[in-house]
Amino acid sequence: MGLTKFISLTTLALTTSAVSWNAAPFNLASVPLAVRSPYLSVWLPQSAGTALNGAWPQFWTGSTLGWAGYIRVDGATYTFLGDPVVAGAETAIQKSLEFTSTQSIFVMTAGPVDINVNFLSPVEPTDLLKQSTPFSYLALSAVSNDGNAEWVSGDDSLTVMLENQELYTEYRDHIQQGAAAYYSTPNSFSLTYQTGQDTVVRAQFINNGVLANTEDTNSRAVSDNWPVFAFAHDLGTVSTTATVPVIYTVGHVRDPTIQYIVANDVYQPRSVYFWSAYSSVTDLISDFVGDYSTALGRAKAFDQKVQSDASAISSNYAAVVALSVRQAFGALELTLSKNSDGSWNTDDILMFLKEISSDGNVNTVNVIMPAWPILLYTNPTLGKCPLLGLLEYQTTGQYPNAWAIHDLGSSYPNAAGHNAGNDEAMPLEECGNVLIMALSYTQKSDDISLITQYTDLLNQWTGYIVAEALIPANQISTDDFAEALANQTNLAIKGVIGIQAMSVISGILGDTDDQHNYSSIVQHYVPQILYYATSSDGLHPTLNYGNESSLLGTDVFPESIYDMPYGVLLDTRHTYTKSDWELWTAATVMTNTTTRDMFIDSVYKYTADGESNQPLGDWYETLDGTVHGFRARPVVGGHLALVSAANNALH
Ligand SMILES: *[C@@H]1O[C@H](CO)[C@@H](O)[C@H](O)[C@H]1NC(C)=O
Ligand SMILES: *[C@@H]1O[C@H](CO)[C@@H](O)[C@H](O)[C@H]1NC(C)=O
Ligand SMILES: *[C@@H]1O[C@H](CO)[C@@H](O)[C@H](O)[C@H]1NC(C)=O
Ligand SMILES: *[C@@H]1O[C@H](CO)[C@@H](O)[C@H](O)[C@H]1NC(C)=O
Repeated sequence: MGLTKFISLTTLALTTSAVSWNAAPFNLASVPLAVRSPYLSVWLPQSAGTALNGAWPQFWTGSTLGWAGYIRVDGATYTFLGDPVVAGAETAIQKSLEFTSTQSIFVMTAGPVDINVNFLSPVEPTDLLKQSTPFSYLALSAVSNDGNAEWVSGDDSLTVMLENQELYTEYRDHIQQGAAAYYSTPNSFSLTYQTGQDTVVRAQFINNGVLANTEDTNSRAVSDNWPVFAFAHDLGTVSTTATVPVIYTVGHVRDPTIQYIVANDVYQPRSVYFWSAYSSVTDLISDFVGDYSTALGRAKAFDQKVQSDASAISSNYAAVVALSVRQAFGALELTLSKNSDGSWNTDDILMFLKEISSDGNVNTVNVIMPAWPILLYTNPTLGKCPLLGLLEYQTTGQYPNAWAIHDLGSSYPNAAGHNAGNDEAMPLEECGNVLIMALSYTQKSDDISLITQYTDLLNQWTGYIVAEALIPANQISTDDFAEALANQTNLAIKGVIGIQAMSVISGILGDTDDQHNYSSIVQHYVPQILYYATSSDGLHPTLNYGNESSLLGTDVFPESIYDMPYGVLLDTRHTYTKSDWELWTAATVMTNTTTRDMFIDSVYKYTADGESNQPLGDWYETLDGTVHGFRARPVVGGHLALVSAANNALH
């Protein structure tokens, strides 16, 4: 099929990279700096390569976050983070950039010292308390690069406190409600701090190497004299042994975090899970800061396990996976409700997921489904948490449609349901998705509670598929941007897989009548679907029934479209593809390593091509690797399909 061309092209993109530092495993499009929740999502845009002090960090949307860092060595001040215009400061030179599943590590040379700048965004899938903590670390240590002892102090600043408090509304994806950004560092005898206008605070540090321990209490808009909050630490004497790291943390907390529709159209306020163990953010921060060295130990073990499992497939695969893990978990929030007496109901854990960048929906079923492999791989018992809210809402009877809902609310963080039934309709897609995930959860977690509790709904959706999947009506699939089409073969197939999943679920529940009924329906449907969806030469499935012109190798679509440099088309209507789909597909052909690697290497080529400067986008052009509109979405959790399928899960 000419597919091997992808492999030979792969190395090209990397050697053309123009950066002057070592980048491992590759020079990525945007470096995750602090990525832990839909609202703590800080990235450094790259294109062909941008140093840590060559641009301002950005929120995933691309808006600037004023996070800056300076280091003063032997009386000279260097900027090493952010792109501030600072009179009297020099620019540290980036030596290297390395990223793992949880860390982005820069080495910056500031005159006679090298600073190690480690951005650690923990991923803690088996510890709900730690996973739900919306904080990230920045650890700085210094080492002499000329063999001499140097006298050093460090400083940075972050300007993110939001003054506007408007409950549950988003302004350009930044949350405005009861929310606060936190910037912390452990106290020590040498710590100084200052708040005030950016130029004043920076001049204080540049001239004196310490801050004034004063606060500018004049609360104002962010752009009005750029108020900054800065900490400075004295690292003491720096030798050829790295200094003990100085820890800074950034976090973003809002409470309540979600409003969720329960019975009778009542909105329940929900809080992030960590509140079950903390009564103040200060206590949480104090523990989080104090936990740094053990958190780093856990992160290294986690990174290494992922790296080793993914490397068993290929090094290109391991690189793509490392970039995907933080991004997927960074779209999730674990929440709790309160009992009537005000105590936390720790039995009521719901996970919410933001469909970042595509439309901001809450818990989109066809986004949870592609992301699913990362939950299976890291902790399959988590799989229940994003499904429960959807199932429980539909059990209240407020959702009027016979099919499974598309999402729990149009705009995160409002899980307000769709009582009018006017959510984006993907009837067959979502019915199939929920049945498949319900079975997958049950099998991988060994827990039948989900299918026991929601059997009626699952049977209802199976009935819908039985009525609709053989001749799929004109509708969209998960790839809604490709628009609606009648008789889509993939929807018919998803439908029968869903019915078969429910047959197995019925068997697990001991309902042998339903088990046999559903499996015999599948046996009747499969040959009919094959008949409708097979080309006249009997060799190929068509995009939709009877559509010979959707075949590759015809006059309309010559064989050469297999030769797209950046992967295989999603379908023959367009030349774009999805990275999650490419790697799910790679997992289905695992045993043929040539075909498997063709898919993997095309995604790798796209992620490492130096063409983009936005957080990893899953929707892109196969012709030239151009990104379409999506970025920072959780579906990259699907990139873990191969480690998940290899059955070497972490648990
Ligand atoms: C089999 O399932 C279908 C779909 O739910 C239903 O319409 C039909 O009555 C069932 N048949 C039997 C024998 O239970
Ligand atoms: C869908 O396929 C069926 C079976 O081939 C056919 O009868 C029907 O006309 C098709 N519907 C559309 C809208 O093409
Ligand atoms: C057949 O498939 C092509 C894509 O390969 C699509 O553009 C066209 O609309 C389809 N035709 C029909 C009648 O569905
Ligand atoms: C792997 O797939 C390719 C492309 O479809 C095929 O040419 C090759 O024969 C397959 N290899 C094996 C060992 O099946």
